[in-house]
Amino acid sequence: MVAAIVKPGRIAYIAGMAVRDIIIHPDPRLKKVCAPVEEVDERIRRLADDMLETMYAAPGIGLAAPQIGVTRRLIVMDCAGKDEPPRPHVLVNPEIVWRSEETNVHEEGCLSIPGEYAEVERPAEVRVRYLDRDGQAQERHFTGLEATCVQHEIDHVNGRLFIDYLSPVRRRLITEKMKKLKRERARGKAKAAG
Ligand code: NI
Repeated sequence: MVAAIVKPGRIAYIAGMAVRDIIIHPDPRLKKVCAPVEEVDERIRRLADDMLETMYAAPGIGLAAPQIGVTRRLIVMDCAGKDEPPRPHVLVNPEIVWRSEETNVHEEGCLSIPGEYAEVERPAEVRVRYLDRDGQAQERHFTGLEATCVQHEIDHVNGRLFIDYLSPVRRRLITEKMKKLKRERARGKAKAAG
């Protein structure tokens, strides 16, 4: 998800973190059902830290591993408002174990679909089971923006994007726009290199 929440000064709050390139739709890696993380080791922690840094730099409020080309079930998020202290979450192998019947409509965007936003209806609250950054089993109840965000990110590790909730016509239109954006960016890079 993207939000116009800029969090200056939060970049590189852990030494050695790196901003990775975010994959733009359409890309086969964004359509994959990702494999579970087998063990929360140093490599996974480093990956999670890079994902947080990439997300804060974008800026965004959530990021899933496939968006940086790693097709594993790992997501990060921070839905804190700009005047609140950071609230980073790392969720490994997240699984929704309960959904409210009540739904909510939020305007969603995606760092892999820059500049496009649409209203998506989802359960208003969810309960999620996951492993945290230390590999400890956790269960957490999400409400409001965090509920939308965590569902959007879990969709990513299942190869689903928010535009999959839209009409085929609208989805095709956005996809064509993104193809054009990718061609333009590729040309820009070629020019810079040449
Ligand atoms: Ni997204």
